[in-house]
Amino acid sequence: MKFSLVILQLVLVLAPFASTVSLREPEIPAFIKTLKEMHQGPPRHPTTRKSHVKTRWITQKLDNFDKANNETWQDRILINERHFVEGSPIFIYLGGEWVIQPGDIENVHLADIAKEHKGTILTTEHRFFGESIPIKPLSSENLSKYQNVKQALADVVNVIEVLKEEDKYKDSKVVVQGCSYSATMATWLKKLYPDVIVGSWASSAPLEAKVNFRDFMKVVGEAYRQLGGDYCYDIIDNATSYYENLFYNGEGAQAKKELNLCSDFDENDERDQWQYFSTVANIFANIAQYQRPENNDLAKYCTNLRNFSDNDYEALSKFVQWRLENPECVSTKYQDAVDYYLWSKDNYDGDGLAWTFQTCSEFGWFQSSGSRNQPFGSNFPVTLYTDICEDVFGSNYSETNIRKLIRETNDEFGGIENVEGVYFTQGGLDPWAKVGAGLAQAATIYPQASHCSDLGSIGASDSAALRASKERIAELIREWLA
Ligand SMILES: *[C@@H]1O[C@H](CO)[C@@H](O)[C@H](O)[C@H]1NC(C)=O
Ligand SMILES: *[C@@H]1O[C@H](CO)[C@@H](O)[C@H](O)[C@H]1NC(C)=O
Ligand SMILES: *[C@@H]1O[C@H](CO)[C@@H](O)[C@H](O)[C@H]1NC(C)=O
Ligand SMILES: *[C@@H]1O[C@H](CO)[C@@H](O)[C@H](O)[C@H]1NC(C)=O
Ligand SMILES: *[C@@H]1O[C@H](CO)[C@@H](O)[C@H](O)[C@H]1NC(C)=O
Repeated sequence: MKFSLVILQLVLVLAPFASTVSLREPEIPAFIKTLKEMHQGPPRHPTTRKSHVKTRWITQKLDNFDKANNETWQDRILINERHFVEGSPIFIYLGGEWVIQPGDIENVHLADIAKEHKGTILTTEHRFFGESIPIKPLSSENLSKYQNVKQALADVVNVIEVLKEEDKYKDSKVVVQGCSYSATMATWLKKLYPDVIVGSWASSAPLEAKVNFRDFMKVVGEAYRQLGGDYCYDIIDNATSYYENLFYNGEGAQAKKELNLCSDFDENDERDQWQYFSTVANIFANIAQYQRPENNDLAKYCTNLRNFSDNDYEALSKFVQWRLENPECVSTKYQDAVDYYLWSKDNYDGDGLAWTFQTCSEFGWFQSSGSRNQPFGSNFPVTLYTDICEDVFGSNYSETNIRKLIRETNDEFGGIENVEGVYFTQGGLDPWAKVGAGLAQAATIYPQASHCSDLGSIGASDSAALRASKERIAELIREWLA
Protein backbone atom coordinates (compact mmCIF):
# COMPACT_ATOMS: atom_id res chain seq x y z
CA MET A 1 0.00 0.00 0.00
CA LYS A 2 2.70 2.39 1.07
CA PHE A 3 4.70 1.50 -1.95
CA SER A 4 1.86 2.19 -4.35
CA LEU A 5 1.43 5.68 -2.88
CA VAL A 6 5.10 6.39 -3.37
CA ILE A 7 4.85 5.22 -6.98
CA LEU A 8 1.82 7.38 -7.54
CA GLN A 9 3.56 10.45 -6.15
CA LEU A 10 6.61 9.78 -8.23
CA VAL A 11 4.50 9.53 -11.33
CA LEU A 12 2.70 12.75 -10.50
CA VAL A 13 5.94 14.57 -9.83
CA LEU A 14 7.80 13.18 -12.80
CA ALA A 15 5.06 13.29 -15.37
CA PRO A 16 5.38 16.96 -16.35
CA PHE A 17 9.15 16.58 -16.73
CA ALA A 18 8.87 13.33 -18.59
CA SER A 19 6.82 14.89 -21.33
CA THR A 20 9.32 17.68 -21.88
CA VAL A 21 12.51 15.69 -21.39
CA SER A 22 11.83 12.52 -23.36
CA LEU A 23 10.85 12.49 -27.00
CA ARG A 24 7.17 12.95 -27.71
CA GLU A 25 5.31 9.69 -28.08
CA PRO A 26 4.90 9.00 -31.77
CA GLU A 27 1.43 8.25 -33.06
CA ILE A 28 0.67 4.54 -32.73
CA PRO A 29 0.73 3.00 -36.22
CA ALA A 30 -2.52 1.29 -37.21
CA PHE A 31 -0.85 -2.12 -37.39
CA ILE A 32 0.42 -1.89 -33.80
CA LYS A 33 -2.92 -0.57 -32.63
CA THR A 34 -4.63 -3.69 -33.96
CA LEU A 35 -2.05 -5.96 -32.33
CA LYS A 36 -2.41 -4.20 -28.99
CA GLU A 37 -6.15 -4.59 -29.20
CA MET A 38 -5.71 -8.31 -29.80
CA HIS A 39 -3.71 -8.66 -26.58
CA GLN A 40 -5.42 -6.37 -24.13
CA GLY A 41 -7.29 -9.29 -22.58
CA PRO A 42 -10.97 -10.13 -22.83
CA PRO A 43 -13.63 -7.46 -22.37
CA ARG A 44 -14.17 -6.91 -18.63
CA HIS A 45 -17.48 -7.25 -16.89
CA PRO A 46 -18.69 -4.00 -15.35
CA THR A 47 -17.38 -3.61 -11.79
CA THR A 48 -19.53 -2.68 -8.84
CA ARG A 49 -19.17 0.74 -7.31
CA LYS A 50 -18.25 -0.64 -3.91
CA SER A 51 -15.26 -2.71 -4.91
CA HIS A 52 -13.45 -4.75 -2.29
CA VAL A 53 -10.45 -5.26 -4.50
CA LYS A 54 -7.21 -3.94 -3.01
CA THR A 55 -3.77 -3.43 -4.51
CA ARG A 56 -0.70 -5.10 -3.00
CA TRP A 57 2.91 -5.16 -4.10
CA ILE A 58 4.99 -8.32 -3.89
CA THR A 59 8.79 -8.22 -3.93
CA GLN A 60 10.06 -10.40 -6.76
CA LYS A 61 13.55 -11.38 -7.83
CA LEU A 62 14.65 -9.92 -11.14
CA ASP A 63 16.16 -13.30 -12.02
CA ASN A 64 14.43 -16.24 -10.36
CA PHE A 65 17.12 -18.65 -11.53
CA ASP A 66 20.37 -16.84 -10.79
CA LYS A 67 21.28 -17.07 -7.14
CA ALA A 68 24.05 -14.52 -7.59
CA ASN A 69 21.62 -11.86 -8.75
CA ASN A 70 19.93 -10.20 -5.78
CA GLU A 71 18.10 -7.48 -7.68
CA THR A 72 14.40 -7.21 -6.91
CA TRP A 73 11.33 -5.39 -8.21
CA GLN A 74 7.73 -4.79 -7.14
CA ASP A 75 4.99 -6.89 -8.72
CA ARG A 76 1.39 -5.70 -8.52
CA ILE A 77 -1.45 -7.96 -7.46
CA LEU A 78 -5.15 -7.10 -7.05
CA ILE A 79 -6.78 -9.02 -4.22
CA ASN A 80 -10.23 -9.44 -2.67
CA GLU A 81 -10.11 -10.98 0.82
CA ARG A 82 -13.60 -9.99 1.86
CA HIS A 83 -15.04 -13.50 2.00
CA PHE A 84 -11.96 -15.19 3.38
CA VAL A 85 -12.14 -17.27 6.51
CA GLU A 86 -9.05 -18.96 7.93
CA GLY A 87 -7.95 -22.14 6.21
CA SER A 88 -10.06 -21.64 3.11
CA PRO A 89 -8.50 -21.59 -0.37
CA ILE A 90 -6.79 -19.00 -2.55
CA PHE A 91 -8.02 -18.56 -6.13
CA ILE A 92 -5.69 -16.92 -8.61
CA TYR A 93 -6.68 -15.56 -11.99
CA LEU A 94 -3.32 -15.28 -13.71
CA GLY A 95 -2.53 -12.04 -15.49
CA GLY A 96 -1.32 -12.44 -19.06
CA GLU A 97 0.05 -9.91 -21.56
CA TRP A 98 -2.24 -7.14 -20.31
CA VAL A 99 -2.74 -4.53 -17.62
CA ILE A 100 -4.66 -6.15 -14.74
CA GLN A 101 -7.93 -4.55 -13.59
CA PRO A 102 -10.29 -5.05 -10.61
CA GLY A 103 -12.91 -6.24 -13.12
CA ASP A 104 -10.72 -9.28 -13.81
CA ILE A 105 -11.79 -10.73 -10.45
CA GLU A 106 -15.28 -9.27 -10.06
CA ASN A 107 -18.52 -10.63 -11.55
CA VAL A 108 -16.69 -13.64 -12.92
CA HIS A 109 -17.34 -17.34 -12.42
CA LEU A 110 -14.10 -17.83 -10.49
CA ALA A 111 -15.16 -15.11 -8.02
CA ASP A 112 -18.49 -16.88 -7.47
CA ILE A 113 -16.61 -20.11 -6.82
CA ALA A 114 -14.20 -18.33 -4.47
CA LYS A 115 -17.15 -16.97 -2.52
CA GLU A 116 -18.73 -20.42 -2.27
CA HIS A 117 -15.53 -21.67 -0.64
CA LYS A 118 -15.06 -18.53 1.51
CA GLY A 119 -11.78 -18.05 -0.30
CA THR A 120 -9.59 -15.15 -1.35
CA ILE A 121 -9.41 -14.25 -5.03
CA LEU A 122 -6.58 -12.35 -6.64
CA THR A 123 -5.01 -11.59 -9.98
CA THR A 124 -1.27 -11.31 -10.57
CA GLU A 125 0.34 -8.91 -13.02
CA HIS A 126 2.83 -10.57 -15.38
CA ARG A 127 6.32 -9.04 -15.41
CA PHE A 128 6.84 -6.26 -17.96
CA PHE A 129 3.13 -5.47 -18.27
CA GLY A 130 1.02 -2.76 -16.70
CA GLU A 131 2.70 -1.37 -13.59
CA SER A 132 4.87 -4.42 -13.01
CA ILE A 133 8.05 -3.41 -14.77
CA PRO A 134 11.22 -5.01 -13.35
CA ILE A 135 13.73 -2.80 -15.16
CA LYS A 136 13.92 -0.07 -17.74
CA PRO A 137 14.83 0.51 -20.46
CA LEU A 138 13.56 -2.62 -22.18
CA SER A 139 16.79 -3.45 -23.98
CA SER A 140 16.91 -6.63 -26.08
CA GLU A 141 19.69 -7.96 -23.90
CA ASN A 142 17.72 -7.56 -20.68
CA LEU A 143 14.44 -8.75 -22.17
CA SER A 144 16.24 -11.87 -23.35
CA LYS A 145 17.34 -12.58 -19.78
CA TYR A 146 14.30 -11.53 -17.80
CA GLN A 147 11.19 -11.64 -19.97
CA ASN A 148 10.04 -15.21 -20.48
CA VAL A 149 7.33 -17.55 -19.30
CA LYS A 150 9.59 -19.47 -16.94
CA GLN A 151 10.46 -16.33 -15.02
CA ALA A 152 6.77 -15.40 -14.97
CA LEU A 153 5.74 -18.81 -13.61
CA ALA A 154 8.37 -18.55 -10.88
CA ASP A 155 6.94 -15.10 -10.01
CA VAL A 156 3.51 -16.69 -9.49
CA VAL A 157 5.00 -19.37 -7.26
CA ASN A 158 6.66 -16.63 -5.23
CA VAL A 159 3.36 -14.74 -4.84
CA ILE A 160 1.87 -17.95 -3.41
CA GLU A 161 4.85 -18.41 -1.08
CA VAL A 162 4.64 -14.83 0.16
CA LEU A 163 0.94 -15.19 0.94
CA LYS A 164 1.50 -18.50 2.68
CA GLU A 165 3.96 -16.89 5.06
CA GLU A 166 0.90 -15.18 6.54
CA ASP A 167 -0.61 -17.30 9.27
CA LYS A 168 -4.11 -17.17 7.87
CA TYR A 169 -3.01 -18.64 4.54
CA LYS A 170 -0.53 -21.22 5.76
CA ASP A 171 -2.94 -24.14 5.13
CA SER A 172 -4.76 -22.68 2.11
CA LYS A 173 -4.94 -24.73 -1.05
CA VAL A 174 -4.49 -22.87 -4.32
CA VAL A 175 -6.53 -23.06 -7.54
CA VAL A 176 -5.55 -21.10 -10.65
CA GLN A 177 -7.30 -20.01 -13.80
CA GLY A 178 -6.02 -18.35 -16.93
CA CYS A 179 -7.34 -17.05 -20.23
CA SER A 180 -5.36 -17.15 -23.48
CA TYR A 181 -1.62 -16.85 -22.76
CA SER A 182 -2.33 -16.83 -19.03
CA ALA A 183 -4.15 -20.16 -19.56
CA THR A 184 -0.95 -21.43 -21.15
CA MET A 185 0.70 -20.35 -17.90
CA ALA A 186 -2.03 -22.02 -15.84
CA THR A 187 -1.31 -25.28 -17.69
CA TRP A 188 2.45 -25.08 -17.39
CA LEU A 189 2.29 -24.02 -13.74
CA LYS A 190 0.51 -27.30 -12.97
CA LYS A 191 3.04 -29.18 -15.09
CA LEU A 192 6.16 -27.59 -13.60
CA TYR A 193 4.93 -27.10 -10.03
CA PRO A 194 2.30 -29.83 -9.50
CA ASP A 195 2.42 -29.54 -5.71
CA VAL A 196 1.99 -25.80 -5.48
CA ILE A 197 -1.57 -25.77 -6.84
CA VAL A 198 -4.34 -28.35 -6.56
CA GLY A 199 -5.84 -27.68 -9.97
CA SER A 200 -5.98 -25.40 -12.92
CA TRP A 201 -8.66 -24.15 -15.31
CA ALA A 202 -7.21 -23.23 -18.70
CA SER A 203 -9.64 -21.22 -20.79
CA SER A 204 -8.48 -21.01 -24.45
CA ALA A 205 -4.83 -21.86 -23.84
CA PRO A 206 -2.49 -21.82 -26.85
CA LEU A 207 -0.01 -24.61 -26.07
CA GLU A 208 1.99 -25.19 -29.22
CA ALA A 209 4.46 -22.50 -30.18
CA LYS A 210 4.43 -21.96 -33.94
CA VAL A 211 6.23 -19.53 -36.23
CA ASN A 212 3.80 -19.47 -39.14
CA PHE A 213 0.34 -19.51 -37.59
CA ARG A 214 -1.56 -19.69 -40.90
CA ASP A 215 -4.65 -21.42 -39.48
CA PHE A 216 -5.49 -18.40 -37.35
CA MET A 217 -6.97 -16.32 -40.18
CA LYS A 218 -8.60 -19.43 -41.59
CA VAL A 219 -10.73 -19.76 -38.47
CA VAL A 220 -11.44 -16.03 -38.50
CA GLY A 221 -12.75 -16.47 -42.05
CA GLU A 222 -14.86 -19.46 -40.98
CA ALA A 223 -16.38 -17.41 -38.19
CA TYR A 224 -17.44 -14.69 -40.67
CA ARG A 225 -18.86 -17.28 -43.03
CA GLN A 226 -20.80 -19.16 -40.36
CA LEU A 227 -22.01 -16.25 -38.26
CA GLY A 228 -21.94 -13.35 -40.71
CA GLY A 229 -22.95 -15.19 -43.87
CA ASP A 230 -21.38 -16.02 -47.23
CA TYR A 231 -22.15 -12.52 -48.49
CA CYS A 232 -20.01 -11.04 -45.74
CA TYR A 233 -17.07 -13.36 -46.39
CA ASP A 234 -17.36 -12.48 -50.09
CA ILE A 235 -17.26 -8.73 -49.50
CA ILE A 236 -13.97 -9.10 -47.63
CA ASP A 237 -12.64 -11.57 -50.20
CA ASN A 238 -13.68 -9.46 -53.20
CA ALA A 239 -12.40 -6.21 -51.79
CA THR A 240 -9.09 -7.77 -50.82
CA SER A 241 -8.47 -9.14 -54.32
CA TYR A 242 -9.41 -5.80 -55.81
CA TYR A 243 -6.76 -3.96 -53.77
CA GLU A 244 -4.16 -6.72 -54.22
CA ASN A 245 -4.65 -6.44 -57.96
CA LEU A 246 -4.22 -2.68 -57.92
CA PHE A 247 -0.85 -3.12 -56.21
CA TYR A 248 0.24 -5.97 -58.51
CA ASN A 249 -0.78 -4.05 -61.63
CA GLY A 250 1.19 -0.91 -60.90
CA GLU A 251 -1.84 1.00 -59.74
CA GLY A 252 -0.68 1.24 -56.13
CA ALA A 253 -1.13 5.01 -56.11
CA GLN A 254 -4.82 4.48 -56.81
CA ALA A 255 -5.07 1.94 -53.96
CA LYS A 256 -3.27 4.35 -51.65
CA LYS A 257 -5.83 7.02 -52.44
CA GLU A 258 -8.87 4.77 -52.10
CA LEU A 259 -7.62 3.34 -48.79
CA ASN A 260 -6.69 6.79 -47.42
CA LEU A 261 -3.14 5.66 -46.62
CA CYS A 262 -0.77 8.24 -45.13
CA SER A 263 1.59 10.09 -47.43
CA ASP A 264 4.71 8.23 -46.22
CA PHE A 265 3.20 4.89 -47.35
CA ASP A 266 5.27 3.66 -50.28
CA GLU A 267 2.96 1.80 -52.63
CA ASN A 268 5.96 0.11 -54.24
CA ASP A 269 7.38 -1.19 -50.96
CA GLU A 270 6.02 -4.67 -50.37
CA ARG A 271 6.52 -4.44 -46.62
CA ASP A 272 4.24 -1.37 -46.47
CA GLN A 273 1.67 -3.35 -48.46
CA TRP A 274 2.04 -6.34 -46.11
CA GLN A 275 1.32 -4.11 -43.14
CA TYR A 276 -1.83 -2.78 -44.68
CA PHE A 277 -3.28 -6.18 -45.50
CA SER A 278 -2.35 -7.63 -42.11
CA THR A 279 -3.92 -4.62 -40.39
CA VAL A 280 -7.19 -5.28 -42.20
CA ALA A 281 -7.08 -8.96 -41.21
CA ASN A 282 -6.30 -8.06 -37.60
CA ILE A 283 -9.28 -5.70 -37.48
CA PHE A 284 -11.64 -8.48 -38.54
CA ALA A 285 -9.84 -10.94 -36.27
CA ASN A 286 -10.23 -8.71 -33.22
CA ILE A 287 -13.98 -8.62 -33.73
CA ALA A 288 -14.10 -12.41 -34.21
CA GLN A 289 -11.84 -13.08 -31.23
CA TYR A 290 -14.37 -11.82 -28.70
CA GLN A 291 -17.63 -12.21 -30.61
CA ARG A 292 -20.52 -13.69 -28.67
CA PRO A 293 -22.78 -15.90 -30.79
CA GLU A 294 -25.77 -15.17 -28.52
CA ASN A 295 -25.43 -11.44 -29.31
CA ASN A 296 -25.15 -11.98 -33.09
CA ASP A 297 -22.03 -9.82 -33.00
CA LEU A 298 -20.63 -10.88 -36.35
CA ALA A 299 -23.95 -10.57 -38.16
CA LYS A 300 -24.20 -7.00 -36.86
CA TYR A 301 -20.69 -6.07 -37.93
CA CYS A 302 -21.38 -7.56 -41.35
CA THR A 303 -24.47 -5.36 -41.66
CA ASN A 304 -22.29 -2.38 -40.78
CA LEU A 305 -19.75 -3.40 -43.40
CA ARG A 306 -22.36 -3.75 -46.15
CA ASN A 307 -24.03 -0.53 -45.09
CA PHE A 308 -20.93 1.55 -45.82
CA SER A 309 -21.34 0.98 -49.55
CA ASP A 310 -22.84 -1.37 -52.13
CA ASN A 311 -19.40 -1.42 -53.64
CA ASP A 312 -17.32 -4.09 -51.88
CA TYR A 313 -13.98 -2.31 -51.96
CA GLU A 314 -15.36 1.03 -50.86
CA ALA A 315 -17.21 -0.73 -48.02
CA LEU A 316 -14.01 -2.41 -46.83
CA SER A 317 -11.96 0.77 -46.93
CA LYS A 318 -14.57 2.71 -44.96
CA PHE A 319 -15.15 -0.10 -42.47
CA VAL A 320 -11.42 -0.32 -41.73
CA GLN A 321 -11.18 3.43 -41.16
CA TRP A 322 -14.23 3.34 -38.91
CA ARG A 323 -12.69 0.57 -36.77
CA LEU A 324 -9.49 2.61 -36.52
CA GLU A 325 -11.59 5.51 -35.21
CA ASN A 326 -11.45 7.45 -38.46
CA PRO A 327 -7.86 8.74 -38.37
CA GLU A 328 -6.85 11.52 -40.71
CA CYS A 329 -5.05 8.84 -42.71
CA VAL A 330 -4.27 5.17 -42.18
CA SER A 331 -0.63 4.65 -41.12
CA THR A 332 0.74 1.28 -42.17
CA LYS A 333 4.27 2.12 -43.19
CA TYR A 334 6.55 -0.75 -42.15
CA GLN A 335 9.34 1.47 -40.87
CA ASP A 336 6.91 3.46 -38.70
CA ALA A 337 5.99 0.28 -36.84
CA VAL A 338 9.67 -0.61 -36.32
CA ASP A 339 10.42 2.95 -35.18
CA TYR A 340 7.52 2.84 -32.74
CA TYR A 341 8.85 -0.33 -31.15
CA LEU A 342 12.39 1.05 -31.02
CA TRP A 343 11.00 4.14 -29.34
CA SER A 344 9.11 2.00 -26.80
CA LYS A 345 12.26 0.20 -25.74
CA ASP A 346 13.49 3.44 -24.20
CA ASN A 347 10.07 4.88 -23.41
CA TYR A 348 8.11 1.99 -22.02
CA ASP A 349 4.78 1.80 -23.84
CA GLY A 350 2.65 -0.11 -21.37
CA ASP A 351 2.18 -3.42 -23.11
CA GLY A 352 2.89 -3.93 -26.80
CA LEU A 353 6.66 -4.29 -26.83
CA ALA A 354 7.12 -6.90 -24.11
CA TRP A 355 4.57 -9.20 -25.74
CA THR A 356 6.07 -8.70 -29.17
CA PHE A 357 9.35 -9.75 -27.63
CA GLN A 358 7.85 -12.98 -26.30
CA THR A 359 6.42 -13.81 -29.71
CA CYS A 360 9.88 -13.30 -31.23
CA SER A 361 11.70 -15.27 -28.54
CA GLU A 362 9.32 -17.98 -27.33
CA PHE A 363 6.04 -18.43 -29.16
CA GLY A 364 5.84 -17.08 -32.71
CA TRP A 365 2.11 -17.29 -33.36
CA PHE A 366 2.56 -14.90 -36.27
CA GLN A 367 -0.79 -14.63 -38.00
CA SER A 368 0.16 -14.80 -41.63
CA SER A 369 -1.86 -14.96 -44.84
CA GLY A 370 -0.43 -18.44 -45.47
CA SER A 371 -3.77 -20.26 -45.71
CA ARG A 372 -5.66 -20.16 -49.00
CA ASN A 373 -8.93 -20.70 -47.17
CA GLN A 374 -9.48 -17.25 -45.77
CA PRO A 375 -10.71 -13.97 -47.25
CA PHE A 376 -7.75 -11.72 -46.37
CA GLY A 377 -5.61 -12.42 -49.44
CA SER A 378 -2.03 -13.65 -49.60
CA ASN A 379 -0.17 -10.45 -48.94
CA PHE A 380 1.12 -10.70 -45.36
CA PRO A 381 3.66 -13.52 -45.19
CA VAL A 382 5.19 -14.57 -41.88
CA THR A 383 8.30 -12.62 -42.94
CA LEU A 384 6.44 -9.42 -42.09
CA TYR A 385 6.61 -10.46 -38.45
CA THR A 386 10.04 -12.06 -38.37
CA ASP A 387 11.50 -8.96 -40.08
CA ILE A 388 10.04 -6.83 -37.29
CA CYS A 389 11.62 -9.13 -34.68
CA GLU A 390 15.05 -8.74 -36.24
CA ASP A 391 14.76 -5.01 -36.90
CA VAL A 392 13.59 -4.30 -33.35
CA PHE A 393 15.47 -6.87 -31.23
CA GLY A 394 18.55 -7.56 -33.33
CA SER A 395 20.08 -10.45 -35.23
CA ASN A 396 19.54 -12.93 -32.35
CA TYR A 397 15.93 -12.82 -33.59
CA SER A 398 16.44 -13.57 -37.27
CA GLU A 399 13.91 -15.95 -38.81
CA THR A 400 16.33 -18.90 -38.51
CA ASN A 401 16.99 -18.17 -34.85
CA ILE A 402 13.30 -17.65 -34.13
CA ARG A 403 12.56 -21.10 -35.55
CA LYS A 404 15.16 -22.57 -33.22
CA LEU A 405 13.81 -20.71 -30.20
CA ILE A 406 10.24 -21.80 -30.93
CA ARG A 407 11.35 -25.44 -31.21
CA GLU A 408 13.00 -25.11 -27.82
CA THR A 409 9.75 -23.88 -26.29
CA ASN A 410 7.87 -26.91 -27.61
CA ASP A 411 10.62 -29.28 -26.47
CA GLU A 412 10.59 -27.77 -23.04
CA PHE A 413 6.84 -27.59 -22.40
CA GLY A 414 5.57 -30.47 -24.53
CA GLY A 415 3.24 -28.62 -26.90
CA ILE A 416 -0.32 -29.88 -27.08
CA GLU A 417 -0.66 -32.49 -24.37
CA ASN A 418 -2.88 -33.38 -21.50
CA VAL A 419 -1.67 -32.25 -18.09
CA GLU A 420 -3.14 -33.87 -15.03
CA GLY A 421 -5.24 -31.55 -12.90
CA VAL A 422 -5.91 -29.11 -15.75
CA TYR A 423 -9.41 -28.49 -17.14
CA PHE A 424 -9.23 -27.22 -20.73
CA THR A 425 -12.02 -25.21 -22.36
CA GLN A 426 -12.14 -23.92 -25.94
CA GLY A 427 -14.40 -22.00 -28.29
CA GLY A 428 -15.38 -23.84 -31.48
CA LEU A 429 -14.73 -20.67 -33.52
CA ASP A 430 -11.72 -19.45 -31.57
CA PRO A 431 -8.75 -19.05 -33.94
CA TRP A 432 -6.36 -19.73 -31.03
CA ALA A 433 -7.90 -23.19 -30.50
CA LYS A 434 -5.84 -24.42 -33.48
CA VAL A 435 -2.75 -24.45 -31.26
CA GLY A 436 -4.55 -25.62 -28.13
CA ALA A 437 -6.01 -28.71 -26.50
CA GLY A 438 -8.74 -30.48 -28.46
CA LEU A 439 -10.99 -33.47 -27.98
CA ALA A 440 -7.95 -35.75 -27.74
CA GLN A 441 -6.90 -33.87 -24.62
CA ALA A 442 -10.46 -34.03 -23.25
CA ALA A 443 -11.02 -30.29 -23.78
CA THR A 444 -14.57 -29.01 -23.46
CA ILE A 445 -15.50 -27.19 -26.68
CA TYR A 446 -18.29 -24.62 -26.88
CA PRO A 447 -19.82 -24.62 -30.37
CA GLN A 448 -19.55 -21.28 -32.24
CA ALA A 449 -17.97 -19.59 -29.25
CA SER A 450 -14.76 -17.61 -29.36
CA HIS A 451 -11.80 -16.84 -27.10
CA CYS A 452 -12.15 -17.06 -23.27
CA SER A 453 -15.93 -17.02 -23.55
CA ASP A 454 -16.51 -18.72 -20.20
CA LEU A 455 -15.05 -16.23 -17.73
CA GLY A 456 -18.31 -14.56 -16.66
CA SER A 457 -20.71 -15.58 -13.91
CA ILE A 458 -23.34 -18.13 -14.86
CA GLY A 459 -26.02 -16.12 -16.63
CA ALA A 460 -29.26 -16.34 -18.56
CA SER A 461 -27.52 -15.81 -21.92
CA ASP A 462 -25.16 -18.79 -21.46
CA SER A 463 -25.59 -21.56 -24.00
CA ALA A 464 -26.41 -25.01 -22.62
CA ALA A 465 -22.82 -26.10 -23.27
CA LEU A 466 -21.41 -23.07 -21.49
CA ARG A 467 -23.63 -23.52 -18.48
CA ALA A 468 -22.88 -27.24 -18.22
CA SER A 469 -19.14 -26.54 -18.36
CA LYS A 470 -19.32 -23.82 -15.71
CA GLU A 471 -21.15 -26.24 -13.42
CA ARG A 472 -18.59 -28.90 -14.19
CA ILE A 473 -15.67 -26.65 -13.30
CA ALA A 474 -17.36 -25.70 -10.02
CA GLU A 475 -17.75 -29.42 -9.26
CA LEU A 476 -14.15 -30.19 -10.25
CA ILE A 477 -12.88 -27.46 -7.96
CA ARG A 478 -14.94 -28.93 -5.08
CA GLU A 479 -13.17 -32.23 -5.76
CA TRP A 480 -9.73 -30.61 -5.96
CA LEU A 481 -10.33 -28.91 -2.63
CA ALA A 482 -11.86 -31.91 -0.87
C1 LIG B 1 23.30 -11.60 -2.54
O1 LIG B 1 22.83 -12.54 -1.63
C2 LIG B 1 23.80 -13.44 -1.17
C3 LIG B 1 23.13 -14.50 -0.32
O2 LIG B 1 22.06 -13.98 0.39
C4 LIG B 1 24.87 -12.66 -0.38
O3 LIG B 1 25.86 -13.53 0.06
C5 LIG B 1 25.47 -11.60 -1.30
O4 LIG B 1 26.35 -10.79 -0.58
C6 LIG B 1 24.39 -10.73 -1.91
N1 LIG B 1 24.96 -9.88 -2.93
C7 LIG B 1 24.74 -8.59 -3.00
C8 LIG B 1 25.39 -7.87 -4.13
O5 LIG B 1 23.99 -8.02 -2.22
C1 LIG C 1 20.15 -4.32 -18.04
O1 LIG C 1 19.68 -4.27 -16.73
C2 LIG C 1 20.66 -3.94 -15.77
C3 LIG C 1 20.05 -4.04 -14.42
O2 LIG C 1 19.96 -5.38 -14.07
C4 LIG C 1 21.19 -2.55 -16.05
O3 LIG C 1 22.22 -2.26 -15.12
C5 LIG C 1 21.73 -2.51 -17.46
O4 LIG C 1 22.10 -1.19 -17.78
C6 LIG C 1 20.68 -2.97 -18.46
N1 LIG C 1 21.29 -3.08 -19.74
C7 LIG C 1 20.78 -2.47 -20.82
C8 LIG C 1 21.53 -2.67 -22.09
O5 LIG C 1 19.76 -1.82 -20.78
C1 LIG D 1 22.59 -12.48 -28.48
O1 LIG D 1 22.91 -13.81 -28.12
C2 LIG D 1 24.20 -13.94 -27.54
C3 LIG D 1 24.46 -15.43 -27.36
O2 LIG D 1 23.40 -16.05 -26.69
C4 LIG D 1 24.24 -13.17 -26.23
O3 LIG D 1 25.52 -13.27 -25.65
C5 LIG D 1 23.91 -11.71 -26.50
O4 LIG D 1 23.83 -10.99 -25.29
C6 LIG D 1 22.60 -11.59 -27.24
N1 LIG D 1 22.39 -10.21 -27.60
C7 LIG D 1 21.22 -9.58 -27.41
C8 LIG D 1 21.16 -8.18 -27.82
O5 LIG D 1 20.24 -10.14 -26.91
C1 LIG E 1 -17.39 -9.98 -56.29
O1 LIG E 1 -16.83 -9.41 -57.40
C2 LIG E 1 -17.35 -9.87 -58.62
C3 LIG E 1 -16.61 -9.23 -59.75
O2 LIG E 1 -15.40 -8.69 -59.36
C4 LIG E 1 -18.82 -9.55 -58.70
O3 LIG E 1 -19.36 -10.08 -59.87
C5 LIG E 1 -19.52 -10.14 -57.50
O4 LIG E 1 -20.87 -9.74 -57.48
C6 LIG E 1 -18.86 -9.69 -56.25
N1 LIG E 1 -19.47 -10.38 -55.15
C7 LIG E 1 -20.15 -9.74 -54.24
C8 LIG E 1 -20.68 -10.58 -53.13
O5 LIG E 1 -20.33 -8.55 -54.26
C1 LIG F 1 -26.60 2.48 -42.39
O1 LIG F 1 -26.04 3.75 -42.76
C2 LIG F 1 -26.90 4.85 -42.56
C3 LIG F 1 -26.17 6.11 -43.05
O2 LIG F 1 -25.50 5.88 -44.23
C4 LIG F 1 -27.27 4.97 -41.10
O3 LIG F 1 -28.18 6.02 -40.93
C5 LIG F 1 -27.88 3.65 -40.63
O4 LIG F 1 -28.10 3.71 -39.23
C6 LIG F 1 -26.97 2.49 -40.93
N1 LIG F 1 -27.62 1.24 -40.58
C7 LIG F 1 -26.99 0.26 -39.93
C8 LIG F 1 -27.79 -0.98 -39.67
O5 LIG F 1 -25.83 0.33 -39.56
